[in-house]
Amino acid sequence: MTTLTILGLESSCDDTGAAVVRQRDGEAPEILSSVVAGQTALHAPYGGVVPEIAARAHVEKLDHCVEQALAEAGLGLDAIDAVAVTAGPGLIGGVLSGVMCAKGIAAGTGLPLIGVNHLAGHALTPRLTDGLPFPYLMLLVSGGHCQFLIVRGSDDFTRLGGTIDDAPGEAFDKAAKLLGLPQPGGPAVEAEAAQGDARRFAFPRPLLDRPGCDFSFSGLKTALLRARDALVAEKGGLTRADRADLCAGFQAAVADVIAEKSRRALALYLAEAPAAPAFAVAGGVAANKAIRAVLETVSAASGARFLAPPLKLCTDNAAMIAWAGIERFRAGQRDGMDLSARPRWPL
Ligand code: KG4
Ligand code: ZN
Repeated sequence: MTTLTILGLESSCDDTGAAVVRQRDGEAPEILSSVVAGQTALHAPYGGVVPEIAARAHVEKLDHCVEQALAEAGLGLDAIDAVAVTAGPGLIGGVLSGVMCAKGIAAGTGLPLIGVNHLAGHALTPRLTDGLPFPYLMLLVSGGHCQFLIVRGSDDFTRLGGTIDDAPGEAFDKAAKLLGLPQPGGPAVEAEAAQGDARRFAFPRPLLDRPGCDFSFSGLKTALLRARDALVAEKGGLTRADRADLCAGFQAAVADVIAEKSRRALALYLAEAPAAPAFAVAGGVAANKAIRAVLETVSAASGARFLAPPLKLCTDNAAMIAWAGIERFRAGQRDGMDLSARPRWPL
């Protein structure tokens, strides 16, 4: 195994990222730099990510992020072995901006180009942070994604189930909107929930009555809307306590569903008798303490090791793309200048 130093780029949603990751001979990888420029403030007036605004911001910020990532790593492009870039799935304008930037660098330097699936970036993060061996079970829960994967190799994933409508982060964001809380909704709903009584409202646990590992969150959102409207009709508005209780009930329902589906996914994964069973979580929703707690409990009960990468590496970043690039490079995978940006790209 040789030493590899890879520059990674990420621009598939509303975070522009550039990072340098190095792995020396047989050693644990090192994140030499990881720069993330978020766009939350740009999209805040619209209550959601506006693709056109996101793409323009990526174009403006990518070069600066690359310069900063190289400067923080203390390296020039001559010390880089390859450029890895998110080639999908995501908002097409953003993905294109990143792919064009990476192609420009590759064309100007002659460096190899590696297209990375954003979901593979998330799914391989526990190997960057903890050197986790294959195969492990991964729950990816973010604003845009929700799926269970058995990660068998850097390019070998088995999907066990996922959402049939909203992603959980999206459900938290919509819940916050319904209750007049700020975006992103997850942290706001979690903070309110901490003050509330989860037993006051009986929210549904969608799809628990059906077998399998699929999720549905849109019915839960509708139930929240009805409960809110009933309170408003009754007393003309929501009190602080009402809001806190609604958030607590909503969060408890999401956590319950995630816990039960995780039990089922773990059972499928453990049936394959992995040598060192492990269950890892990634995505912004992994920041939620109540959800993390149920995942820990479920893992402990099944005898699987539980892993949650540090939050900065759970949410969108380019270090995970650089790392996935290292994994692909070591597996002999490269792309050419015909690398295309793919808005949809299932694993
Ligand atoms: O992974 P991420 O940064 O971006 C992508 O969606 O790719 O995830 C952002 C999502 C948002 O929907 C946000 O509301 C949610 O993660 N989130 C949370 C929490 N913190 C962030 N959801 C629940 N509880 C939280 N504490
Ligand atoms: Zn993501």
